[in-house]
Amino acid sequence: MPSDAGERRYPFAADGLDTNPIYAKLRREEPVSRVRLPYGGAGWLVTRYEDAKLVLADPRFSRAVTVGREDTPRATPQPPQSASLLSMDPPEHSRLRKLVAKAFSSRRVERLRPRVQQIVDRQLDEIVRCGPPADLVQGLASPLSLTVIFEILGVPPQGQRRFLELADSQMSTTAHTREQRDAARAELEEYLAESVAERREHPTDDLLGALVCARDDDDRLTEAEMVDLAILLLVAGYETTANQIANFTYTLLSDSKQWESLCARPELVPGAVEELLRYVQLASGALFPRAAVEDVTVGGVVVRAGETVFVDTQSAGRDEAVYEHPEELDLTREHHPHMAFGYGPHYCVGAQLALLELHVAMSSLLRRFPGLHLAVPPADIPWKPGLFFRGPQALPVSW
Ligand code: HEM
Repeated sequence: MPSDAGERRYPFAADGLDTNPIYAKLRREEPVSRVRLPYGGAGWLVTRYEDAKLVLADPRFSRAVTVGREDTPRATPQPPQSASLLSMDPPEHSRLRKLVAKAFSSRRVERLRPRVQQIVDRQLDEIVRCGPPADLVQGLASPLSLTVIFEILGVPPQGQRRFLELADSQMSTTAHTREQRDAARAELEEYLAESVAERREHPTDDLLGALVCARDDDDRLTEAEMVDLAILLLVAGYETTANQIANFTYTLLSDSKQWESLCARPELVPGAVEELLRYVQLASGALFPRAAVEDVTVGGVVVRAGETVFVDTQSAGRDEAVYEHPEELDLTREHHPHMAFGYGPHYCVGAQLALLELHVAMSSLLRRFPGLHLAVPPADIPWKPGLFFRGPQALPVSW
């Protein structure tokens, strides 16, 4: 319901993985609409595909000017923080991104495939040993994405539990106070600064080691840039992938025909993963504000210089102008222009790694557990409260 000022409260409420029907109405009637965020005031929300693409790729929209400002509309108590890759504009962003891309090349990601398969096999063996039933969040989704990210960052096993607590607090909307987040951030920075210093002395083959050595002509990452980047990789890479492994499995098992059809045709898994990325709304809303640096017309609305825009890429993935029957999960769909990994200069740097983990996890589950089913009714699955990313707290399954 819009307020007197014509503003709706955003992010929109939804249970579990449901999509709030307001998105379809907005795409139809008010594709660029006013929304009021829990902190920092009001902004614009973009819900159609073509408008989303425009804002994400157009240099007249800046991430950097939203940083560190109390008046930036946002879902978190504290304003967006400084200096991370995700909050920079070109040319600073391009410089850093080029160096990161070197350490994150397809070759490096593909080299991880046997290790990802080994971790998945180990976790599934353990599930078989202890079950049925089993919790797929604790049994597979979390340990897989955490182990992968810890190994590429070179976090030793003894530090991993604390590291995870600290990382969790960086991705909360209401689950932690501002003081708790700041203290956790300081501890993460201290830890990573030590790791970077160690790698300068004794180079390692992990991603942090590669970042220490990454060079572009005479350019290289500073200590502070590396620390910021490592924190970003952890928070951006862990919760996203872990939740989507659980969310995808939940979605397929909630309609057992979908699970059975993939079991019968495992060659569909890569396309099915793309379709699930489009269909399953991971984030509770658009997370990263952009501000217009000059007046720009978007979807017929003039966004004034200084005003903030949120781009809802999940809503864009349901745009009737781009997809036939967008509200249907169609695992045989062939056209996949979704923006689940973003679009433009900030396109997810970890997309290939995420796809690798999702493909290996889903293929292995389908192969080893063709009879997999939810061990409780879908309505009894508990969902995580107060975090950016949606996902089940536990996913009890049987087979
Ligand atoms: C299913 C899993 C994932 C999803 C859905 C996802 C989604 C996204 C999206 C939508 C963006 C762009 C945000 C924006 O422009 O506002 C992004 C950026 C980013 N992602 Fe991911 N991501 C995933 C996994 C990962 C992984 C595994 C890593 C790294 C290990 C990662 C690292 C990053 C980084 C560093 C950025 C910032 C890139 C830049 O600003 O240039 N992500 N991701």
